[in-house]
Amino acid sequence: MSLNPDIAAAPLSSRRGGPLRGRVRPPGDKSISHRAFIFGLLSRGVTEIAGLLEGDDVMRTGEACKALGAQVERTGEGRWRVSGMGVGALLAPTHTLDFGNAGTGSRLMMGVVGGHAVTATFDGDASLRKRPMRRILDPLALMGAQVVAQAEGGRCPIVLRGTSEPAPIVYRTPVASAQIKSAVLLAGLNAPGATTVIETEASRDHTERMLRHFGAEVTIAPEGETGRRITLQGRPELRPCPVVVPADPSSAAFALVAALIVPGSDVVIEGVMMNPLRTGLLTTLLEMGAQIEVADRRLEGGEDVADLRVRASALTGVAVPAARAPSMIDEYPVLAIAAAFARGETRMHGLHELRVKESDRLVAVAAGLAQAGVAHAIEADDLLVSGADGAVRGGGRVETHLDHRIAMSFLVMGLASRQAMAIDDSAMIATSFPAFRPLMESLGAQFF
Ligand code: S3P
Repeated sequence: MSLNPDIAAAPLSSRRGGPLRGRVRPPGDKSISHRAFIFGLLSRGVTEIAGLLEGDDVMRTGEACKALGAQVERTGEGRWRVSGMGVGALLAPTHTLDFGNAGTGSRLMMGVVGGHAVTATFDGDASLRKRPMRRILDPLALMGAQVVAQAEGGRCPIVLRGTSEPAPIVYRTPVASAQIKSAVLLAGLNAPGATTVIETEASRDHTERMLRHFGAEVTIAPEGETGRRITLQGRPELRPCPVVVPADPSSAAFALVAALIVPGSDVVIEGVMMNPLRTGLLTTLLEMGAQIEVADRRLEGGEDVADLRVRASALTGVAVPAARAPSMIDEYPVLAIAAAFARGETRMHGLHELRVKESDRLVAVAAGLAQAGVAHAIEADDLLVSGADGAVRGGGRVETHLDHRIAMSFLVMGLASRQAMAIDDSAMIATSFPAFRPLMESLGAQFF
């Protein structure tokens, strides 16, 4: 068990200074980094990874891969080498797999374990222990995995006994979730037949792309207007492949919104992944009137990337449709900050999934906005923010509830609000964006 004892609470504040200027490259994408380690484990031979996010969440996935038999070594900054075991050849871990704060790492690994004849204990910090895991355990049980032990309500710590013969299933995900989809597909890798996942709204497709990259046969067909039907042929021989991780759009979001709301700013954010299932925030900010130029579109590591030139902008409130949620699910907290500085009301529809992230993000964002004097409301699953047209009071101390994105969002707010913003704990920022502070400082941001 771990409650992240090695990470002590570290309060931090931010204040308004001059314009933000310069060029930055955000860290590697968290979703792809987790998957890079996992696919390294599941292919027999050596996978070389470049640009990996070296945040706590991803490091824990690396440790879990080691516990399941892979050799995982760091060969340089962001460079890692994984010597994998191959599908069907994992070892039983001899200790608890401690995923810290990481929902993605733990859920994807449950899929891996569920499809192999190994038993593993999954645990994490106080935030992870609150997160619902039945959404993963239910389809895995249909495939033949057994939950040996679990905390109340299907929560960690969980002991999962996988099966060497996972049943190939057709599974319709109850919510648009790449984590559920990925867990089922990863378990299906060892199934003697085809596993199909149907989603009524498309979620991020990094697992499907990486399955193909490593040589698996995956077919993707449209399902209704917005969904997808993904079918994986089981028991492929995955071949090790180099993985180049593009910059994380969810981390780029903080520099992006900061540059929009700090008057006079002009910032270039380099190499940002432009996968259309991740660009909902960009679409929304452009609708709000943001001056963002998308330059030098190119392919890096099989993903479309671009440099974003962002200039401080007068933003206008908009309605964000629920259908956009999957493509910007992690960006709502920082969108709420942009909305606070906009003119008029922003209504974000259909945010029920925000309640089960690292914290209840609907409640955490609302409480932070209240601290900063921003008028807002939660109506059913919608968040309404009444923009202060650039004149956000700020002040107060925001509780981050072990949630890195709440921490970074309100620090961004403090860079433009009249009074400084304080957060109770910046330690969790290291889960996804260890260099957040120096990167933002290189643009002129002030923290204290
Ligand atoms: C992720 C999927 C999303 C997202 C998370 C990363 C992934 O979660 O919030 O940060 O890498 O698959 P859900 O799939 O549960 O929406």
